Order: sequence, then structure tokens, then C-alpha cells
Amino acid sequence: MQNKLTKLLNIKYPIIQGAMAWISESTLVSSLCNAGATGVIATGGRDISFVRDEIRKTKELTNKPFGVNIMLMADNKEEIIKLCCEEKVSFVTLGAGNPVPYFEVLKENNIKIIPVVPNLKLAKRVEQKGADAIIIEGMEAGGHIGKQTTMALLENVIPNINIPVVIAGGIVDGRGLASALLMGASGVQMGSRFLLSSSCLVHQNSKDMIINATDTDSIVTGYSRNHGVRGLKNDFTNKFLELEISGAKNEELFKLATGTNKKAAVDGDIKNGLVQVGQSLVPLNKIQTTKEIIDEIINEAIEKLDNASKLSSYLK
Ligand SMILES: Cc1cc2nc3c(=O)[nH]c(=O)nc-3n(C[C@H](O)[C@H](O)[C@H](O)COP(=O)(O)O)c2cc1C
Repeated sequence: MQNKLTKLLNIKYPIIQGAMAWISESTLVSSLCNAGATGVIATGGRDISFVRDEIRKTKELTNKPFGVNIMLMADNKEEIIKLCCEEKVSFVTLGAGNPVPYFEVLKENNIKIIPVVPNLKLAKRVEQKGADAIIIEGMEAGGHIGKQTTMALLENVIPNINIPVVIAGGIVDGRGLASALLMGASGVQMGSRFLLSSSCLVHQNSKDMIINATDTDSIVTGYSRNHGVRGLKNDFTNKFLELEISGAKNEELFKLATGTNKKAAVDGDIKNGLVQVGQSLVPLNKIQTTKEIIDEIINEAIEKLDNASKLSSYLK
């Protein structure tokens, strides 16, 4: 049986692998598609020929629908949108800026529009302007974060929105998927869990650091400057936070942070780079194939949801 999201995206399971800059490319994305979920190619920091190649490689590796992430602060965003239209990708996720000016061209090209929004006001705005679905992302997530938690977003947004709502941030297993569905979400977007897929090309040093991390090991840099980024504590985050707390200028801070995701993800420098990952770290303890991850999540969610009706007896 399908729900609003699986119908919209023509996928089996309501799970989206969220874009991960410098990390999510054709190998990971196609593995998600072939396991019954879907994936998103990240474009942050990439040039147009890289994105074109990755879209084409993904098409060779899967015949299932997949998406591309548009970072709306990127200088080449319009080129990437044009490319998505030419390549007829199934859907785009759009974040870090105003997505509305691009709705018309995306609709003309039959590309489903899924903005990532941080609050109810923007959720209502993009719904009213014609978005096909939205992603709301709680501050438990890895990478750039907003100000609300996943639970608060579920409470605040879902009852007030009619298009499919995808929830992200801190969801790493079937219990998370089951609770999101019970809260009324149409699906989940996950990033951190897929960093430990054998199909994920993130540097092994980052994978090892995540496996060895526990619940208190992530931290947010830049939150006081409206630029929060979550990753694992290390020399870089210590230095950044010292400067942030001492009142250093934004330019100095942003200069220090520039390129740190790539440094960890691609070069494997987990001291001076930032291993971006979410707060739900304890269950992230082994490398598995994407298919094993998806099957495990789905089986656990089914078990939890099948048992959920018993829980209502406590309330009667
Ligand atoms: C390493 C990393 C890089 C990310 N890069 C992007 C990005 O380029 N664009 C984007 O929209 N979201 C990005 N995200 C957010 C993810 O797409 C996803 O929403 C998030 O990981 C969900 O929370 P979780 O990490 O707790 O699963 C990134 C997340 C991580 C962990």
C-alpha cells in the first residue's frame, strides 16, 4: 500500500537519503534507490560537470527515481536547476534560501519540488506556492541546522500542512521511522545512518570516528551567529567555539569553518576538518550494506507499528 509520499515519488519505502555535501553521489544514491528507498545527489561546492556526470552515472546504476539537492546560496544554482530540467530528474530538494522563484520552471519540467523548511511560516508559504512536499529538519541533524527540535517541528507543522511532510533530524532506525509515521509524517529523510553504508564514499576515518562516538560527542558550532552546524567534537570545534564565545567576528569564524566538511569527508582529516553527523550516535556502530540498513529499518518499523495498538490499552 502506498502513502502520499511513496505515491508522489513512486518509491517503495518512505525513506529519503538526504543530500550530504561532498559525500552523496551516484554510488550511494543508486544503492538507496535499488534498496526501495530513494537518494539525493548533493551539489554543494560542486561544479556543473560533476553534477551532470553523477546524474548520468546514477541513471546507469538504477532505473528508479532519485533527486538532486539545490543549495540556494550557491552561485551556480541556476545552472544546476537548468541541468536538472534537461536531465529530467524526478525531484529536487531545495534549501538555504528562497525556493519559490524556481517553482515555475521546475513545474514546467515535471520535476517534483521538495523544499527544506525550518518553521511553520515557511512551510505554509511553500505549500501555498505549489510545493509538492516539504522536508522539515530538526536540530538533532548532522550538518547545517535550524532552531527547532524534530519533536517540536512534528508538533508545530504537521497538523497545519496538507502536502506530504518528510521529517529529518536524529532518525536513524525503525523506531524513528515508526514514530514519525505515527506523528503524521509521510516519510523520513536520513543522512547520518547512511554515512555508515558500505556504498558511502565518505573517508574511512570519518566512519571510524562516528562508530566510536557516543551520545554526548556531537556539538554545534556557529549557533550564536545563526549558522549552526552539527558535527563531532575535535580540535577544530574546540578552536571555533573558543573564538565564537570570545566574540570573534563572523568573517574570522566563517573563514576558519570554510572547507572543513570536505577536509574530513574527502581528505580524512578528522582533527582539523568537521565530521558532520547528527545527535543520534549510539545506534551508529557498524558498517552495513545499504540494503541491510533499509531492510533493518523497515522490519523494525513494521514490528513497532504492529505492536503499537497494544500500547493504547495503557490509556484505556
Ligand atoms: C555530512 C552531512 C552533509 C550534509 N549536507 C547537506 C547538504 O549539502 N544539503 C542539505 O540540504 N542537507 C545536508 N545535510 C542534511 C541531510 O540531508 C539530512 O537532512 C540530515 O542528515 C538528517 O539528519 P540526521 O543526520 O540526523 O539523519 C547534511 C548532513 C550531513 C550529515
